[in-house]
Amino acid sequence: MADIDFTSQTTIVTGASSGIGAAFARALAQRGSGVILVARRLDRLQELASELEREHGVRATPIALDLSRPGAGRTLASEVAARGLTVTGLVNNAGFGTDGPFHEEDPDRLQDEIAVDVANLVDLSRAFIEPLRQAGRGILVNVASMAAYLPGPDMAVYSACKAFVLSFTEALWYESRSSGLRVLSLAPGLTRTEFFDDLQGGAYSGSYQTPEQVVGTALRSLDRGNRRPSVVSGRGNALAAGAGRLFTRRHAVLLSGSAGARSRNTAAAAPAGAGRRM
Ligand SMILES: NC(=O)c1ccc[n+]([C@@H]2O[C@H](COP(=O)([O-])OP(=O)(O)OC[C@H]3O[C@@H](n4cnc5c(N)ncnc54)[C@H](OP(=O)(O)O)[C@@H]3O)[C@@H](O)[C@H]2O)c1
Repeated sequence: MADIDFTSQTTIVTGASSGIGAAFARALAQRGSGVILVARRLDRLQELASELEREHGVRATPIALDLSRPGAGRTLASEVAARGLTVTGLVNNAGFGTDGPFHEEDPDRLQDEIAVDVANLVDLSRAFIEPLRQAGRGILVNVASMAAYLPGPDMAVYSACKAFVLSFTEALWYESRSSGLRVLSLAPGLTRTEFFDDLQGGAYSGSYQTPEQVVGTALRSLDRGNRRPSVVSGRGNALAAGAGRLFTRRHAVLLSGSAGARSRNTAAAAPAGAGRRM
């Protein structure tokens, strides 16, 4: 199976102002895809767009958008149309997590989390699925998480959001099989990004991947054709995600809760700068 030809394609990458999204934008531009970079921090998007145009000769279009606001799909579709761009691919990567016991969490922040991680991921997918299917040669990647595979005590809403992303994307994979569009749910494990800056507990202990490794996992899977609806990045992460299926629901949540607490305790005792689990 030949690798995907991204030349003369245009791929939207949400959350392109840092971390995994910026790595996606760089990898896609390197392979010849024009990119539409979406996030709130316009200065970062502009800087990345200049870098990609200079280094790869592709068109890179920054668009500032707050994905916690309702109707992001239609807003972005009209911004894209106003610039005369035809979209062939979409990477729904923007997202953030909240942590702590559910009864202590800020309700407004939870609403924003569901809006960014779930509601607008669906809205963007719906807004662009028809042109993506018509183009029939691009990608639709939705970034889930290892957290999608088990309930997550102390990250209850985040884990549930990512379980939604996994289930939703696998269903779209099935519906897209004859369209030429390659659909993939991507589950990173611990990845060295700004993700942990938002968490009350900070980062977690464990082994971290780089954003480039995570993006490499996704693109390798997509290059092999539309064979897999979902992929977990990192061999150890894939084993851990699969292991959840060996347990009863009760044991799975008990295990997940105690593993999370253990990584936090390890991290709390660790010297500054040492990692903690996600
Ligand atoms: N890092 C990990 O260990 C890990 C593990 C599993 C899954 N993930 C998932 O990977 C994805 C990327 O995260 P990351 O690790 O690369 O973290 P990151 O470095 O914090 O990047 C998050 C991106 O999402 C954007 N974003 C957040 N809220 C937004 C909003 N309201 N409107 C528009 N854009 C928004 C941010 O841009 P602005 O702030 O500029 O808006 C940023 O570009 C997320 O879906 C995350 O859940 C990460």
